Amino acid sequence: MNHNLTRRHFLHTVSAGAAGLGLAAKAGTPGVSASSSEGEKLALLGGKPVRTDHFPSWPVIQENDEKGWMEVLRSKNWCRSSDGHYATRFEETWAKTLGAKYCVATSCGTTALYASLNALGVGPGDEVILPPYTFVATLNVILMQHALPVFVDSDRETSQIDAHKIEAKITSRTRCIMPVHLGGNPVELDVVLDVAKKHKLPVIEDACQAHTGAWRNRRVSTVGDLGCFSFQASKNLNSGEGGAILTSNPDLHEFCKSFQNQGRGPAGATFAYARQGSNLRMTEFQAALLLQQLTRLEEQSHVREQNAAYLTSLLHEIPGISPARMYEGTTRNGYHLYMLRYDKAHFADLPRARFLEALAKEGIPCAGGYTPLNKEPMVKETLNSRAYRTIYSEREIDGWEERNQCPENDKLCEEAVWFFQTMLLGSRQGMDQIAEAIRKIQNQAGQLAHS
Ligand SMILES: Cc1ncc(COP(=O)(O)O)c(C=O)c1O
Repeated sequence: MNHNLTRRHFLHTVSAGAAGLGLAAKAGTPGVSASSSEGEKLALLGGKPVRTDHFPSWPVIQENDEKGWMEVLRSKNWCRSSDGHYATRFEETWAKTLGAKYCVATSCGTTALYASLNALGVGPGDEVILPPYTFVATLNVILMQHALPVFVDSDRETSQIDAHKIEAKITSRTRCIMPVHLGGNPVELDVVLDVAKKHKLPVIEDACQAHTGAWRNRRVSTVGDLGCFSFQASKNLNSGEGGAILTSNPDLHEFCKSFQNQGRGPAGATFAYARQGSNLRMTEFQAALLLQQLTRLEEQSHVREQNAAYLTSLLHEIPGISPARMYEGTTRNGYHLYMLRYDKAHFADLPRARFLEALAKEGIPCAGGYTPLNKEPMVKETLNSRAYRTIYSEREIDGWEERNQCPENDKLCEEAVWFFQTMLLGSRQGMDQIAEAIRKIQNQAGQLAHS
């Protein structure tokens, strides 16, 4: 990826892209400060904020969305049942867009992951490898199968699973590897696939946050055996709730298609069951909306990428701020999140929580990201449940915590700062303001630390 985009080149490309979306900043309008405010009083201490305008709202709704929605309403066919016009069209379109043979739409990303684990036969007594730095759903689906989650430490520089540490966690009980392309930034897939191949293990890519991510020009979700997406409200492709499974394996496709429809057989026979299943179906409304939202995914993603590259070039100039690195094989970052690490040593030891508070007061929405999933009390509680105690030995359960230490991830969780995909949909000026607000806090961190 080219991080060395010049400012002039950037100005050109981003303003063109953003203008196309109708999202360009209103230069010179109230609330957008034209000059640097780095020496001014911090907003947290009663000064004027760097930014008072909102970043773009989400989702973007246009006439085509209303039309798609109303078509379903008027059709009176709101449930896809065994087939379904819009759900089938969405599956075909999304599979083609990504370059996979098959897509199965689901009710959400969690159920896409749940169906995928079932397709691979993951169950009690199995171990599943996952990162500790992810949304809780990646873990919950493993626990739903009564399988044992095995956490592999994070690579702090990228905020992704450290693929080089996967092999050491593989045992005779490992049943599958579940990497997560967190924030849209692809994991080091070459290394994941090498280990998976060596140990004959299937890979489920959790691409729930990575709708346009690509690894060596292949879209993420199509590189492993199965790939899963979420279309929940915050996601870069959104239908309120929704999910999808991508695969090019006909058997896995057949399983998932049947499983999401109560285990029904392929012929659509209402009461003919090929297997046990569940209702994980996407509605026709969700599918129709996705088909319409999809028409602007490319353009929006392009703007995010341009803005992110520009922001990275600005933030690289600020000591103590380290934007998440991308692996060499990354040909596209899906930018659901813009992630960076904050080193308080360069901010007069100002705690991260106080830095985030100050940034928010400057008009820059931000978050501290995830807490370590391997340390969630609910995991221990679940492992101590009757079911887990029945399946696993005392030694396995009591030794789990020690086996799942992730010290790098613990540090990452203390240092992380996130910006959101909607902020990247705005103008170049918004990126300038993010950097300006950070520099302003840095300049006065000493004062803030003692206030
Ligand atoms: C990494 C990851 N995995 C899984 C999910 C679950 O998706 P959903 O909320 O659609 O069930 C999400 C959703 O936020 C996610 O971010």
